[in-house]
Amino acid sequence: MNHYYITGTSSGIGKALAEELLASTNNVVHGMARHETIVHERYRHTSIDLAQQEAVLSFSFELHPDDTKRIVLVNNAGTLGDMGYLGEMNDEDVASSLNVNLVAPVILINKFLYQFANHPAEKVIINITSGAATAAYDGWSVYCTSKAGIDMLTRVAHAERKQRNDGRAHILAVAPGVVDTAMQTKIRNATEDKFSRVDKFHDLKNNNQLYKPVDVAKQLARIIANPDTATDIVSRISL
Ligand SMILES: NC(=O)c1ccc[n+]([C@@H]2O[C@H](COP(=O)([O-])OP(=O)(O)OC[C@H]3O[C@@H](n4cnc5c(N)ncnc54)[C@H](OP(=O)(O)O)[C@@H]3O)[C@@H](O)[C@H]2O)c1
Repeated sequence: MNHYYITGTSSGIGKALAEELLASTNNVVHGMARHETIVHERYRHTSIDLAQQEAVLSFSFELHPDDTKRIVLVNNAGTLGDMGYLGEMNDEDVASSLNVNLVAPVILINKFLYQFANHPAEKVIINITSGAATAAYDGWSVYCTSKAGIDMLTRVAHAERKQRNDGRAHILAVAPGVVDTAMQTKIRNATEDKFSRVDKFHDLKNNNQLYKPVDVAKQLARIIANPDTATDIVSRISL
């Protein structure tokens, strides 16, 4: 069997990826989110608020038998938080968004690599990043900062595995492109004084230029199945 731990399986890309993987009888999906929206015999849900550091610190990966082929962690859950300019933001929202987008992924990767250090399965970690990691969008300081952190976290983790000659653990960051999810709806609901480029996102939607979560999920599943073929540690899906 293969075991997939995916954060943010209640909607959007994470849900589509879970459903794509559950189509194979070899796969068990362990989802993590505040809400549970998938009912499937091979789906196990942990209700967790990733903004709560104590909850993340208490999380444990399961033990899996030695004949498990692949164990995967997809750090997908993410939030834009409240869009707005520095100096006008809510401190608590800043802290909780950073927890979801960056602190939780670091802790989960640390726990994952510790728990499965001596497990013979192939290990794959995919961190979902964004073009915002390298573009300074006004109103998105927390989101851009967290995704830039995710990119560097991935590069360091990759370098460390290489340094340890650990060829059984693959770590990649993947930006999914602009995808038709609740996150995009939230972006389009922003006012120009909080996010000056909101028109661009209205145009993408009106011109049917958003990727469908199901298509992104298929591509992510291909990357997970063939992590060796990735040419870049940080890449962007192009459909
Ligand atoms: N959509 C895009 O255009 C786009 C572009 C680039 C990158 N991304 C990235 O893709 C990933 C998925 O986003 P999406 O577009 O699919 O957004 P989405 O539909 O809003 O889904 C976000 C997921 O994250 C989970 N989540 C958010 N806050 C959480 C919390 N406090 N605790 C636990 N889970 C939490 C949500 O679950 P609950 O609400 O049930 O907790 C939900 O399942 C994110 O990392 C995002 O940054 C998206």
